This record gives sequence, structure tokens and C-alpha cells, in this order.
Amino acid sequence: MKPSFLKKEILKEPDKADSIKAWFWTEKGLYLLDQRKLPLEEKYIFCDNLNKIRTAIKEMVVRGAPAIGICSAIGFVIEFKNFLSSLKSEEILIHKVEEEIGKISNLLVTARPTAINLSWAVSRMRKISLNFLEKFKEKINKSELKQLEELLEKEALKIWKEDIEANLAIADYGKDILPEGGILTHCNTGALATGGYGTALGIIRKFYEKNKKIKIFVDETRPFLQGARLTAWELYKLKIPYTLISDNAAGFLMKKGEISAVIVGADRIAKNGDTANKIGTYSLAVLAKFHNIPFYVAAPSSTFDLSIEKGEKIPIEIRPSKEVLTCHKSKIAPSKAKAYNIAFDITPNELISAIITEKGIIYPPYEENIPKFITP
Ligand code: MRU
Repeated sequence: MKPSFLKKEILKEPDKADSIKAWFWTEKGLYLLDQRKLPLEEKYIFCDNLNKIRTAIKEMVVRGAPAIGICSAIGFVIEFKNFLSSLKSEEILIHKVEEEIGKISNLLVTARPTAINLSWAVSRMRKISLNFLEKFKEKINKSELKQLEELLEKEALKIWKEDIEANLAIADYGKDILPEGGILTHCNTGALATGGYGTALGIIRKFYEKNKKIKIFVDETRPFLQGARLTAWELYKLKIPYTLISDNAAGFLMKKGEISAVIVGADRIAKNGDTANKIGTYSLAVLAKFHNIPFYVAAPSSTFDLSIEKGEKIPIEIRPSKEVLTCHKSKIAPSKAKAYNIAFDITPNELISAIITEKGIIYPPYEENIPKFITP
């Protein structure tokens, strides 16, 4: 549903957008649903420049690997537009435009380090810009730059649309792989974390439509509570029943036979299948292995980083300790307590039963099979 303040605006969005809207892109800028406030408040934050969008990504107003990739591409367009309107003369030196493209790209890719989708999307935008600029010698005029702006806008929409299509294909492949019974998911991988529909949560959505004989377990995902606040909110909006559990409950539920599969998303997948995802994913994979339960990863091809051989090379984000020391702004530890907020972990490939992508389901041995599906 469109919020009432946007009723009259021209919205830029691909065809198959989801009913759950993590953002709206209009002529004026980007309206981001503030995910820090969900599920208590459904409020949009307005971003009309790069700094605002970068800060929103850094502070997790918008989060989830594919979502921050798409929002970076949109941020790229918005800032390029601002640059164009700031130009005083009719012509500008090419190297000045290149400098601006470099600045925009750097600021966006450094907003968060672990999800590869961010630099993947920004490098697509950068490539469009540099290929276009190559056609000119020393100078370029405003109307030519306007053409580049249009190309950039098209590319950002394409990145968004491709992600939705990838999610729908992932859901189609994944719906046939899940067993009946209890399905546990971690963090949030739904429409809020992607261009729409979701990856792991998309599969759960599709599987539920096909076969109601499942019990969806959502873990809280401390400290940011993506499970309790975001996945639970999405399932509630979709009218899909779920049961929330504390992060600590997973092992014992597996022992009791209440969980028949675990499915999660990914922030970066190395060439050998090692997977970076929200902290706590590794623990679930170890527990699943111990209890002989399949452990699945669902991700679009934009999440693979074939330049990284193994998971240990993936940069892991360390976030502010206050996220661990508080819960919804209330202090939960003594005043001078110290905390270590390691935001992601790496699940080694041997703990992963299959990786579900839009190109098909990849099974081990991953070193051999990933290149058959994912090309650089
Ligand atoms: O810190 P976040 O909330 O951005 O982390 C998100 C995750 O770890 C998701 O599982 C991942 O990005 C996949 S989203 C489809």
C-alpha cells in the first residue's frame, strides 16, 4: 500500500513489486521504510542526497544484502542528478565527471562491508557511466549528461527488477526442496531485505502456498532482532502463521524433532560455497549437522563473490556495541559494560546441504558445481 503522502507522486518501480514496500522511489527522492522502528511504527524516511542514503544504509534504516545493493544504485542516480543540477556552466571537463562518479561509488560501497551486493550494484552503475563517458574527448555538455542520467536510472530499475525476478525463480526452485514439518529461518530475508518477495523467506512463502503442512519457526536474531521485528512483521502482513523462538531455543527444538530444515539467506558466498550471513547462522548450521537436519542457503547470483576463494577472506562487519547493550533503546546491561557486536559469521561449505539460486539448486561439491551455475 502506498502511504497517503505519496498518493500523487510518480513512482518509479518495476512491474512485479511486492505488496510489502521497503521503499518508494519518486521524482523527489527515495522514501525508506525505517526498519529500525518496525514493527512498532511504520514510518518512511526521505532521502534526497547521497549522504542521507549512505547514512540510512549504515544505520540500517534499510538492510539486507540485495536491498542495500538496489538502494545504492538508486542513491547513485539521485546524487548524479544533484551533481547535474549543481553545474553552473553548460559544459564540464570529462575528468571532473569521472571524479564525481568515483566519489559517489566510494561513499556507497563503504557504507557496509560484508554484503557483496552493494559493490556489485555500484560497479554496474559505475561501468554504465564510464562506458558512456568514453565516447567524449575532453568536455561534455549538460544535455549529454542528461542522457547519462537516463541510462543510470534505467540501470537502477533493471537491478531492482532483476532482483525481484531472481527471488521469484529462487522460490520456485526452493519450494520443492523443503520437507514438511518445522522450518526454521534466521534474520530477515523477505521483501524488506530484497527488491521484493524475498530469498529464504520467499521460498517459505511459496512453500506455504503449496503445502500448508509446515510450521514456520522464526528466531529473534539478536541484537538487531531482524527475526522478531521484521520477519515476524512480514509474515503477519502476509497472514502466514509463524512461531517466534528465542535464538537459544533452536538446538533443543532440533533435538525434540520439531525442526525438519533450516533455511537462511546470505550476504556473500565465496567461490567454494563458504557463506557469510547474519551472526548466529554458523551456530544453526553446526546444530543442524549434529541433528542430521538439512541446512539450506538461498541467494541470488549477485551474492556470490568469485574473487574470494574461501570464507575466511570475507570482511566481517563489527557494529556499534550499543546494539548489544540495548534492546529497543532500553539498557539491558550495567552502565559500563563492554560488548562485542560482530554482525556476521561464516558458515563453512561442508555444513551447507544446498545453495538455492535463481539459476538452479547448487549441491556439493561446491568448488566443482558453483562455476557451472555462476559466472564472473
Ligand atoms: O545486518 P543485516 O540485517 O543487513 O543482515 C541481513 C542478513 O544477514 C540477511 O540474511 C542477508 O542479507 C540476506 S537478505 C536476502
